[in-house]
Amino acid sequence: MAILITGGAGYIGSHAALELLRRGFDVVVVDNLSNSHEAAIDRVAELAARPVPFHRVDIRDRAALDQVFRTAPIDAVMHFAGLKAVGESVGQPLRYYDNNISGTIVLLEVMKQHGVRTLVFSSSATVYGDPASVPITEDFPLSAVNPYGRSKLFIEEMLRDLCRAEPEWRVALLRYFNPSGADPSGRIGEDPNGIPNNLVPFIAQVAVGRLPEVAVFGTDYPTRDGTGVRDYIHVVDLVVGHINALEKLAAGPGLVSYNLGTGRGYSVLEMIEAFGRAAGKTIKYRLAPRRPGDAAECWSDASRAERELGWRATRGLDDMCRDVWRWQSNNPNGYA
Ligand code: NAD
Ligand code: UFG
Repeated sequence: MAILITGGAGYIGSHAALELLRRGFDVVVVDNLSNSHEAAIDRVAELAARPVPFHRVDIRDRAALDQVFRTAPIDAVMHFAGLKAVGESVGQPLRYYDNNISGTIVLLEVMKQHGVRTLVFSSSATVYGDPASVPITEDFPLSAVNPYGRSKLFIEEMLRDLCRAEPEWRVALLRYFNPSGADPSGRIGEDPNGIPNNLVPFIAQVAVGRLPEVAVFGTDYPTRDGTGVRDYIHVVDLVVGHINALEKLAAGPGLVSYNLGTGRGYSVLEMIEAFGRAAGKTIKYRLAPRRPGDAAECWSDASRAERELGWRATRGLDDMCRDVWRWQSNNPNGYA
């Protein structure tokens, strides 16, 4: 079975490519390298001991995407390509809507033209907006609080409409909680551009000496230690969930949606402490005001995925921190 991976040079897409190759799937990667490096593909090929067909293509480029579908048979698509920085999306909404929404429309049209109607889509827990309570189930009301989140929500709605209009489509919406971790080889991992927005890559760069200290955003939340609580999920567990979703789609057409999380949350201070343990260092931090727009707690009820996909996260906090540290300490400057 051949899977087209859009955004396959990125953090999650490169791990998906590796896991698929390890399980004997064929993959084709499409990425415009706007937020990634071709070296990630080379390392996936090295780890899998198989060549990885790679096309440097923007998914909005219909002719180039059409050409990709002509060069290799494709059975299904895992769609990771997208811009994902929340703050940036507030300042550049049109860029986000064009890249994420227009890109997805072109992809769906080209898929249709080539008779490919199986799609696994990277959605996000951000589609739950500011959740009224935790844990979050898939039936919670959906909303968005920034253009990035709105782009995910619109794409979900668009895919629902498409499946209603053309019932032969098979679509899985996978709502990720907080992906973290890296392949245990330490050869591929998350390599954010500039100063990281997200907690774990920030801690990792403090641990490796690139940044002086972590700012803990908010210490007066109604949580066990006053800091924000999130559901951090190991990227390898996350990509295994995609393969299980693909198997589910093979059983019949329709649209399904799943939370991919661990079902438990850790606070910012717990993350800093766990990372310090993994790295064998004390991570320097300072207490800072809340970051606007952050929820106190966001963690999943992941029981639907367990029930219907036979999937659950098996890697814990210490595995995640150990694997991020291996990646970060072996590659202090990422792929550069
Ligand atoms: P990433 O930036 O590392 O990977 C995305 C990849 O898509 C990059 O390699 C980028 O170059 C590519 N890309 C972007 N626009 C493109 C276009 N128009 N054409 C071709 N390639 C394009 O991000 P990631 O963390 O691997 O995230 C993958 C997906 O998962 C994204 O859609 C993201 O929104 C979603 N997601 C991520 C998180 C997270 O915390 N990492 C959480 C929820 C959802
Ligand atoms: N935090 C800090 N200091 C930092 C960075 C983050 O204290 O330097 C805190 C935040 O306040 C929050 C927690 O660490 O309490 C996690 O923050 P992240 O930025 O790592 O992650 P978020 O939960 O805010 O957001 C992530 C993705 C979003 C996605 C959301 C839900 O970045 O794109 O998960 O899936 F929408």
